[in-house]
Amino acid sequence: MATIGTSALDVFPLALGGNTFGWTSDEATSHQVLDAFVAGGGDFIDTADGYSAWAPGHSGGESETVIGSWLKSRGRRDDVVIGTKVSQHPQFRGLSATNVRAAAEASLRRLQTDHIDLYYAHFDDPEVDLAETVAAFDGLVNTGKVRYVGLSNYSAERVQQWVSIAQGSGYAAPVALQPHYNLVSREPFEGQLAPVAAQHQLGVVPYFSLASGFLTGKYRTREDLAGSDRESFTAKYFTDEGLRVVEQLDRTAQAHGVALSTVALAWLQSKPTVVAPIASARNPEQLADLLASATVDLAVDEVAALDAFSDEVTRTAAERASESAA
Ligand SMILES: NC(=O)c1ccc[n+]([C@@H]2O[C@H](COP(=O)([O-])OP(=O)(O)OC[C@H]3O[C@@H](n4cnc5c(N)ncnc54)[C@H](OP(=O)(O)O)[C@@H]3O)[C@@H](O)[C@H]2O)c1
Repeated sequence: MATIGTSALDVFPLALGGNTFGWTSDEATSHQVLDAFVAGGGDFIDTADGYSAWAPGHSGGESETVIGSWLKSRGRRDDVVIGTKVSQHPQFRGLSATNVRAAAEASLRRLQTDHIDLYYAHFDDPEVDLAETVAAFDGLVNTGKVRYVGLSNYSAERVQQWVSIAQGSGYAAPVALQPHYNLVSREPFEGQLAPVAAQHQLGVVPYFSLASGFLTGKYRTREDLAGSDRESFTAKYFTDEGLRVVEQLDRTAQAHGVALSTVALAWLQSKPTVVAPIASARNPEQLADLLASATVDLAVDEVAALDAFSDEVTRTAAERASESAA
């Protein structure tokens, strides 16, 4: 088990991503995935009020609704830690105090629960005074509707500002950070956010841990990706350097007799500050490889070899960015 920052939340070292629920997995399959996750020792579930508003015909709230019906039918509320997020639901955009309170109520209704264990500000909202948002989250903690506060997609500077407002006013301080972080996307997390997470003892819960499926190794050519549900998410990882990371994952996975996705998650779990990477599964078969990451320990030289291939992705991306800026 791993503790989320300074909170009292002890969780399985893999969080189950909820963006598939009601999107690429129907309700019955989503419930099977949730059942299999809990049966495999999992207890940390990640969602957001906006999931899956991006899908045609969806309005947001689909994922929380599916989780809520599962919680109700299984009676497992006290056995799981639920993380959800505010700011991106089409009807509840942004982080004004009024919106944060209203969005939290809507999430509680959909989740069919009276409390959210970890409530994230999903994206920074520069239009709202940060002190107003910090106070709104603190108000939810005080009423018991939220247990702990988390931040996702915030810059290091804005995390520092949030923490100092909270400390200065005696408000609930964040305990978790949810950044985009994986073997083919290490910046800006490692360079900018990881030091801030270490400084404030924030538990890191990376998202896109499998690079939206790229690090499972199932896409080796652009043709493999064409027409998939996640094409628009995954295409950006498709570089020569990225494919060399996948080849190194192949070698490490073979040495352990596990899937590439298992190793990609174990690599994240080996990193300081990381509490539990988030990954989602379309069905229980995919989930088995993800759960296996909790039982795989990579040797120091295996992590170093993956780091070296991954460094090439970071270096080349930085070179391309500076060329296009020149
Ligand atoms: N804070 C944020 O802004 C933010 C943003 C994005 C995501 N998230 C969170 O992070 C979670 C994970 O993100 P994600 O699902 O987009 O990306 P991901 O975990 O990197 O990729 C998961 C996808 O990879 C594929 N996959 C998983 N296991 C597999 C296996 N064993 N074999 C083959 N394919 C496999 C499945 O997609 P297919 O079956 O479709 O290929 C699965 O849905 C989300 O559910 C959400 O909770 C947070």
